[in-house]
Amino acid sequence: YGTGAPAQDLSGRRVVVSAGGTREPLDPVRFLGNRSSGKQGIAIASAARQRGADVTLIAANLEVAEPDGCDIRRVSTALELRDAVVDAAHGADVVIMAAAVADYRPASVSAGKIKKDRSDAGLTLELVRNPDILAELGHAPHGSTVLVGFAAETEADEGRLLELGRAKLDAKGADLLVVNRVGWHEGFATDENAVVIIGTGGEIVARAHGSKLSVAHAILDVVVADATTAAK
Ligand code: CTP
Ligand code: CA
Repeated sequence: YGTGAPAQDLSGRRVVVSAGGTREPLDPVRFLGNRSSGKQGIAIASAARQRGADVTLIAANLEVAEPDGCDIRRVSTALELRDAVVDAAHGADVVIMAAAVADYRPASVSAGKIKKDRSDAGLTLELVRNPDILAELGHAPHGSTVLVGFAAETEADEGRLLELGRAKLDAKGADLLVVNRVGWHEGFATDENAVVIIGTGGEIVARAHGSKLSVAHAILDVVVADATTAAK
């Protein structure tokens, strides 16, 4: 994908991509967050644009520049991300959940800055579950919309990594799952990525590694093939 113009195989298609990581406020100055930079999601949005798609990017606290040519909707929390994704997903051909969504949020948000206790005691935070956006989409009737999830796992063994991925794909009702290993030094702020893409039968449909843009195109190749098969 380094040379020449990419195929316009997503021309006229509506593609929704979520990218970045959600932040869950504790008080006006603090939040619980994660290390997702948004790079892989942005690369997917850019790649889809290059291939002629009409792209809506749901952007959660991006640490890198926003791509050109996309309809960008900025959100911060998981609940905001859900509203934006559910809204954009209506009538979309493809929804790709690349965002790292917080599984939990503080049970209450303090109106003022939380002050430390005068004793030396620690602090226990109460968290509640956030909705699972991908599972919500996957378990609702979604017509011919292709749903793509990501699975960020720290598991080192590839067999175990794929097992976790298959279980996740099943639980979410997604059509494709992009599995990648993350850790202290890989996956998040880096410019390269390595992924395995699995299909609804749990089979490996593709492997891709390289720049996040080349991985993005490899993911879209699978999405285009999947959509073509589904239409037959
Ligand atoms: N996801 C989502 N809503 C959530 C959590 C995750 O839509 N509340 C999506 C992510 O965007 C990703 C996929 O689900 O596409 C898998 O996310 P991941 O964190 O790997 O899986 P979880 O189901 O949250 O499981 P766990 O974190 O316990 O491994
Ligand atoms: Ca999670």
